[in-house]
Amino acid sequence: QAAAALRIIARDANMKASVRQSAELYQLLWRAAQRFVTGETLPEALESAQHLAAMGYGLSLEPIGENTEELAACRAAVATFSALIEELGRLSLAETVSLDLSHIGLNLGEELARGHLTELAELARQHGVSLMIGMEESAKTEAILGVYKRTAGRYPNVGVTLQAHLHRSPADLTELMQYPGKIRLVKGAYGEKPEVALPRSEELNRRYLDMAERLLENGHPCSIATHDEALLCEIGRIAGERLPGFAEFEMLYGVRPERLNELRLGGNACRIYLPYGPEWYLYLCHRLAEHPNNIFRALTDIVSP
Ligand code: FDA
Repeated sequence: QAAAALRIIARDANMKASVRQSAELYQLLWRAAQRFVTGETLPEALESAQHLAAMGYGLSLEPIGENTEELAACRAAVATFSALIEELGRLSLAETVSLDLSHIGLNLGEELARGHLTELAELARQHGVSLMIGMEESAKTEAILGVYKRTAGRYPNVGVTLQAHLHRSPADLTELMQYPGKIRLVKGAYGEKPEVALPRSEELNRRYLDMAERLLENGHPCSIATHDEALLCEIGRIAGERLPGFAEFEMLYGVRPERLNELRLGGNACRIYLPYGPEWYLYLCHRLAEHPNNIFRALTDIVSP
């Protein structure tokens, strides 16, 4: 219930406006958000990116945003992503830019999203940057995969995220492995109906493991994006036996950083998902909804001096 409420709050325009208008509330919530968000601006994100890249991490940077509903706002989002890609190129950071297709126009139509994605993929290619498409609610899965498949052949620098919790995903994986792009495997962050997805469970972990094994067996470019200890141990063991150094582990900024560091020191490729931007409030709510224990952490962050 807490998770469902937070998902609604995340998208509530009045709540967002209240946070912006009240300097005190803004400061309090920003304290909690800083655990998960690297900054509000591009220079702040780039500073963190350079620091983490120098330590040996790969990065997925994302200006936070989703569900853009007006054309001008979609163009503004494309401009934001373009500026990020160009800056990464200028700094010779051959990193990944993550994006949700609904941020750049999917809600206004697949053609618009595809056009914007192609524009960004071309720019990214010129700058040695990769793109990773995030996966959104199941109502959008078909459209997102459709746009991805129409772009992936021409742009192998574009990858896509698959949510193991969706019942359709094992079949989608079979098809997606025919495209060259990287597949980022996650459990799935959105509340879905049982007809559509598995809840957090042993069954979901078995499905995640099975999909990860298929990616590794096929030597398909992939990112194992989980913080789940049992999965990390098992996939680390399988990858070590079959393809040492091939699997990439990816975690959210601020979630289990010590464990990712341990994986990195063990010789594994490790990537950090680094979100930033003025829409941090939306992202904070998503992280709290996904792992309600974070509400207590957030309160501690807020009250600690
Ligand atoms: P699970 O939720 O079972 O958590 C396992 C353990 O990890 C927890 O017990 C806790 O210790 C720790 N943990 C997990 N989440 C935490 C959090 N928020 N705060 C603190 N501790 C936490 N989802 C999606 O639907 N579409 C997408 O595009 C993406 N993209 C994405 C990229 C990357 C790089 C990552 C790592 C994750 C995503 N996700 C996502 C989110 C993903 O679907 C999932 O919700 C989270 O990764 C949490 O799931 P775990 O696999 O970690 O397992």
